[in-house]
Amino acid sequence: MSRVLVASNRGPVSFSTADDGTLVPRRGGGGLVSGLTGAGEVLWVCAALSEADRTAARKAPDGRIDQAGHDTGDAAVRMLDIPAATFERAYNGMANSTLWFVHHMLYDLPGEPCFDARARRDRQSYEAYNAAFADALARDAAPGAKVAVQDYHLALAPAMLRERRPDLRIAHFSHTPWAPPDYFRLLPDDLGAALLAGVLGADHAGFLAERWASAFLACCELLPGARVDHAARTVRYAGHVTHVGVHGLGVDGPALRSRASEPDVLARETALRDRVGDRRLIVRIDRTELSKNIVRGLAAYRELLTDHPEWHGRVTHLVFAYPSRTDLAVYRAYTDAVLRTAADIRAEFGTADWEPLIVEVNDDYPRSLAAYALADVLLVNPVRDGMNLVAKEGPVVSRDGCALVLSREAGAAADLGEDALTVNPFDVSQTAAALHRALLMPADVRAARCARLAERATALPPRAWLAAQLAALD
Ligand code: G6P
Repeated sequence: MSRVLVASNRGPVSFSTADDGTLVPRRGGGGLVSGLTGAGEVLWVCAALSEADRTAARKAPDGRIDQAGHDTGDAAVRMLDIPAATFERAYNGMANSTLWFVHHMLYDLPGEPCFDARARRDRQSYEAYNAAFADALARDAAPGAKVAVQDYHLALAPAMLRERRPDLRIAHFSHTPWAPPDYFRLLPDDLGAALLAGVLGADHAGFLAERWASAFLACCELLPGARVDHAARTVRYAGHVTHVGVHGLGVDGPALRSRASEPDVLARETALRDRVGDRRLIVRIDRTELSKNIVRGLAAYRELLTDHPEWHGRVTHLVFAYPSRTDLAVYRAYTDAVLRTAADIRAEFGTADWEPLIVEVNDDYPRSLAAYALADVLLVNPVRDGMNLVAKEGPVVSRDGCALVLSREAGAAADLGEDALTVNPFDVSQTAAALHRALLMPADVRAARCARLAERATALPPRAWLAAQLAALD
């Protein structure tokens, strides 16, 4: 029985199968993983995401990956062996193709969304998936324990868990934006209501930015029977009060800087410097994710080169676009669009002795840190983003100070806005102009702004962020 539990779709470890059939564990990165490292006695409940994960979960005693001798840091990890078909429909169908699209407002509205029989099946699987988490948490939680449920994959779980275990103190945290009411209403009415009621099963509903918390409260106004108090930031529903809070997740400065000074990062810095010479460096690092706006970012770079030929030969744009959610056709098509646009730019501007653009698609964490370290300009231009930790990591790792061109639609803009060059992510010309200004920023101004960005980026590191979520339950 545990006193503190965390639940999320993606856990701290995942598995692949080697040629000889053995399971190879890989520790995950990300804010949640570092937030939990050293967080004390925590039980982390996550889903098996692949066939190899499911095998590992089945082989571990009662799904307890840590008890099967795998390194999971300090956390005890229970991996749920959810049937593959249920998981696929819940994760790809409902979570990533519906809820992600709604909260990031990604639909191409003339043709989608279309809530038909298939969508209803996805929803049933999503309910079963959430119920599997609620069952596991209900079983493992000590009386009065605190449970921190994470993200849109698990929007129904808080209410399901409250029903099973009214003694628990439950938090839900959204790592995405929350859709404004007019967009949230795209969802079938009963589904929208179920999602709100699901989150309202928690005692505390946390968001990354004020904007998303307000949007959630505004959506709750639509829920029959819910009473919203905007000043107190509470919602009374089904005889129970949910407090809404904002915790702007940041990065762990000392840990990140120390990682960035290890030999593998330094070697990649040298290799990168050798490749680009003393040219100015505009860097972006993203999952190849629809919301990240990579194609418009490339269009802005093209416009910069068109409008300002003085940069020809003097700047290189480094684009790290790592594979993401490749089971979804729309993500594969987006990856193609990124690569096509990049090829066009290289064909238009490249010369025998100048690479205007370098695109890397294979994930390499130390190389990402090396790029942060060397960047003169960091471009972060999502169409909409819960927070965006790239915008926070870059200034922390930067060696001489980088200028940050940042979308005003990222949650990070609320924390970093003043010292970033903020842009409307749909305005390619404005973004191009911001890149130009960023390149021209005097070194001392850039360094001073970057130092302030790094300070704000580290204000709420993962451990303090998790502690705040749990303290909000007292
Ligand atoms: C976002 C979500 C996380 C998710 C991550 C990677 O940051 O908020 O919950 O884990 O994207 O996406 P993936 O589908 O690969 O887990």
